[in-house]
Amino acid sequence: MYVKSLLSKIILFSSTTLLIIFASADNCFNSIIGFGDSLTDTGNDIHFISTYNPPPYFMLPSYGDTFFDRPTGRYSDGRLIIDFIAGDLGLPFVEPFFSEGRNASLESVNFAVAGATALEDSNFTEMNVTLPMSNVSLATQFSWFQQFLSNKYNNSSDYKRYLQTSLVLLGEIGCNDYNHAFLQGKNEAEVRPFVPKIVKIIGEAINELINLGALTLVVPGNFPIGCTATYLTYFANTNEEDYDSTTGCIKWLNRFAEYHNHLLQMELSRIRELHPKTTIIYGDYYNAALNIYRSPETYGFPRRNLKACCGGGGLYNFNNSVPCGHPSSMRCVDPSSYMNWDGMHFTDAAAKWIAKFVLTRVGKICDQPSSHTGVYDH
Ligand SMILES: *[C@@H]1O[C@H](CO)[C@@H](O)[C@H](O)[C@H]1NC(C)=O
Ligand SMILES: *[C@@H]1O[C@H](CO)[C@@H](O)[C@H](O)[C@H]1NC(C)=O
Ligand SMILES: *[C@@H]1O[C@H](CO)[C@@H](O)[C@H](O)[C@H]1NC(C)=O
Ligand SMILES: *[C@@H]1O[C@H](CO)[C@@H](O)[C@H](O)[C@H]1NC(C)=O
Ligand SMILES: *[C@@H]1O[C@H](CO)[C@@H](O)[C@H](O)[C@H]1NC(C)=O
Ligand SMILES: *[C@@H]1O[C@H](CO)[C@@H](O)[C@H](O)[C@H]1NC(C)=O
Ligand SMILES: *[C@@H]1O[C@H](CO)[C@@H](O)[C@H](O)[C@H]1NC(C)=O
Repeated sequence: MYVKSLLSKIILFSSTTLLIIFASADNCFNSIIGFGDSLTDTGNDIHFISTYNPPPYFMLPSYGDTFFDRPTGRYSDGRLIIDFIAGDLGLPFVEPFFSEGRNASLESVNFAVAGATALEDSNFTEMNVTLPMSNVSLATQFSWFQQFLSNKYNNSSDYKRYLQTSLVLLGEIGCNDYNHAFLQGKNEAEVRPFVPKIVKIIGEAINELINLGALTLVVPGNFPIGCTATYLTYFANTNEEDYDSTTGCIKWLNRFAEYHNHLLQMELSRIRELHPKTTIIYGDYYNAALNIYRSPETYGFPRRNLKACCGGGGLYNFNNSVPCGHPSSMRCVDPSSYMNWDGMHFTDAAAKWIAKFVLTRVGKICDQPSSHTGVYDH
């Protein structure tokens, strides 16, 4: 259970920060459709945890402290990137499919589940990696989506119209696949062969969405995992050469994330050529976050700070036995001065900036309605 919450990914936001509104982006899309893991899960995971004992720590304070004033199932002190994207587009929060998301009168819906992997369970067995938790692959999320479409709409032309006016946020997904392998002791050379497999699965999902009618997709890559308190704790060592002297992050882990992102972007280019009418935006979570690690002051973070705001102590305030939410865990006074919330996931404050970085690209599409004539005519 702890492992579950630690391995899944999240982003944290701070309550005091104001949402940046791109007026031009308002009414650009009718809805957002989300897929992914804990970086994007707005509350689906709660549905799967009824059998967990003790109760999951991400459903206890201090989760949700900064923005919602209660735990909501988000791995954050506040909002996730998807929440900021929705706000900037003038849309309500994207409800989880396993609660309000099933309400047919709502347009946006989120299928992301904390702990989700791109690969299926059987694939991990083949690769000698055990899957302690999720059992929710991207394919599973797609099967829910198809169920959702057929409950809501009568036929494929209705699906198409819905998808054409939606922004699809596909990911981030895949990070948990790597987390499991790395944190079970596999080395970089052993995990690298996962990458093309995972990118292929993401590519297949994009193609399926385009075939159903999607016209605008944001596909985020991996973030700089070498800067997260969880990894910094697991892979701490005395070899200074392992660390980037500017950021304090572990270089080889960031290189690994870059490798995933490189292959993912090549796949996106390939798909764009096949579908020139579709807009596929690469969600550059990596550089968005790295910019902040490099010059935190520019983004309102007081100084270099790789510690988790909330956790069980130690150099990075991360201890697998004492996760955030545990009675013995410690929460920082001001989450808005931290990038990292609970070891793995971003704070509300960090997510705000990452969303802003991605939204400048989405905003450009919304500024050019002529390229989608007839699509946004609602
Ligand atoms: C569904 O959503 C609509 C619009 O937000 C709301 O008025 C209605 O009460 C919801 N229905 C249920 C069953 O939650
Ligand atoms: C993953 O498992 C599924 C179902 O067992 C199989 O069809 C697929 O080829 C596997 N994918 C990879 C990348 O091994
Ligand atoms: C699977 O991994 C475990 C350690 O994680 C190792 O002891 C074992 O030899 C591996 N088995 C195979 C078939 O690679
Ligand atoms: C995982 O999902 C499969 C298919 O939905 C199901 O048969 C299996 O029981 C699930 N496993 C666990 C551990 O929940
Ligand atoms: C689907 O068709 C039925 C009648 O066949 C109609 O009552 C219903 O409004 C339609 N649903 C939508 C979403 O258009
Ligand atoms: C699809 O269903 C809608 C009603 O939901 C109807 O107006 C439309 O004609 C149907 N289209 C096709 C191709 O069957
Ligand atoms: C993590 O917390 C446990 C339980 O309090 C403690 O025994 C252990 O020493 C801690 N580990 C580190 C590295 O601080």
